[in-house]
Amino acid sequence: MKVVLVTGGAGYIGSHTVLQLLLAGFKVVVVDNLNNSSEVAMHRVRELAGEFGSNLSVNMVDLRDRAALEEIFASTQFDAVIHFAGLKAVGESVQKPLLYYNNNLIGTITLLEVMAAHGCKKLVFSSSATVYGWPKQVPCTEESPLSALNPYGRTKLSIEEMCRDIYQADSEWKMILLRYFNLVGAHPSGYIGEDPHGIPNNLMPYVQQVAVGRRAALTVFGNDYNTVDGTGVRDYIHIIDLADGHVAALRKLDDPNIGCEVYNLGTGKGTSVLEMVKAFEKVSGKKIPLVMAGRRPGDAEIVYASTEKAERELNWKAKYSIEDMCRDLWNWASKNPYGYQSQDSTKQS
Ligand code: NAD
Ligand code: UFG
Repeated sequence: MKVVLVTGGAGYIGSHTVLQLLLAGFKVVVVDNLNNSSEVAMHRVRELAGEFGSNLSVNMVDLRDRAALEEIFASTQFDAVIHFAGLKAVGESVQKPLLYYNNNLIGTITLLEVMAAHGCKKLVFSSSATVYGWPKQVPCTEESPLSALNPYGRTKLSIEEMCRDIYQADSEWKMILLRYFNLVGAHPSGYIGEDPHGIPNNLMPYVQQVAVGRRAALTVFGNDYNTVDGTGVRDYIHIIDLADGHVAALRKLDDPNIGCEVYNLGTGKGTSVLEMVKAFEKVSGKKIPLVMAGRRPGDAEIVYASTEKAERELNWKAKYSIEDMCRDLWNWASKNPYGYQSQDSTKQS
């Protein structure tokens, strides 16, 4: 049985990916400092995994704690690492750049050093479509020009460059850098999902909180873009499709010809803010009041992925539609209006 270390495994993407890994027969060891997540997510993943639940172990450790990380690597021989752990709020990264550079870069450097010291040289890293900046051409292909517009984006771009340098210096490394587009939704059980702390930065977590009455209205950032209805266009992908993309990437790491490769994980389709809101209203039966506002600084007009490379080389393709994403998001939100702290949760861990 293959053993995978998952950093940030208690988070939104991490928890869904850990579940898919367990169901696919992997043994999983999570390292997470629970800075932006809850242990409840791990209990629920264990339950959802049924007979495979006992193949999960969780360590509450900060990646920058080298001694603790060394201990974990000394006790288990990992086949590969999936590295999700990081801070991800763009606005906060502008306010607190050092926090982001410290957490994301030092965390990653420590991880890669400890991996190398223990002979584990297979990595899947969470990069982001943010590295395409404001794309001059869509769809974004893996060869499109890269730029970063804020400290968060610069940490992603720096880690990508770091990985390419490490591979150049030592071809024993096998690295897959996954550029995620816009994740939406939750596990269809409604038992795990996204539980952002504070005011959500992203569109659908905000919509979700309006729907359950936690916020009054959605502010639409810009309705004068050159798009179908004037609002920004993004490539929304269901969290389960994204999680399955990681299982496909792990399998690809066994390909003897793989070095350091980049793949987009998206659907290849663009959807506007108003189209997303309409789809959510339809499946939830909830009206989302809107307040039109100016453009959010740093926002691109239209971003969507070319998915050809991932389809061809990872043998992976997103299956779920916008309606599926909204339905599963609403299922999670209505069962857990206050996330993992929810009083009204259908099941308690
Ligand atoms: P998340 O905040 O839900 O999960 C990240 C997890 O990492 C959290 O559980 C947090 O506690 C943990 N963590 C952070 N710093 C840590 C540290 N120093 N040591 C140990 N654990 C630490 O975020 P997510 O949405 O699941 O994102 C996962 C990764 O994917 C991040 O690297 C993020 O930048 C990247 N990403 C996310 C999106 C998105 O829209 N959610 C898009 C592109 C890329
Ligand atoms: N939007 C609103 N109101 C809101 C939030 C968002 O109108 O309250 C609009 C934005 O202007 C944009 C669209 O909804 O047009 C999507 O915005 P998000 O904040 O949900 O997503 P972004 O594309 O801006 O960025 C997100 C993450 C990035 C990541 C990127 C691709 O925040 O870190 O997806 O994965 F890089």
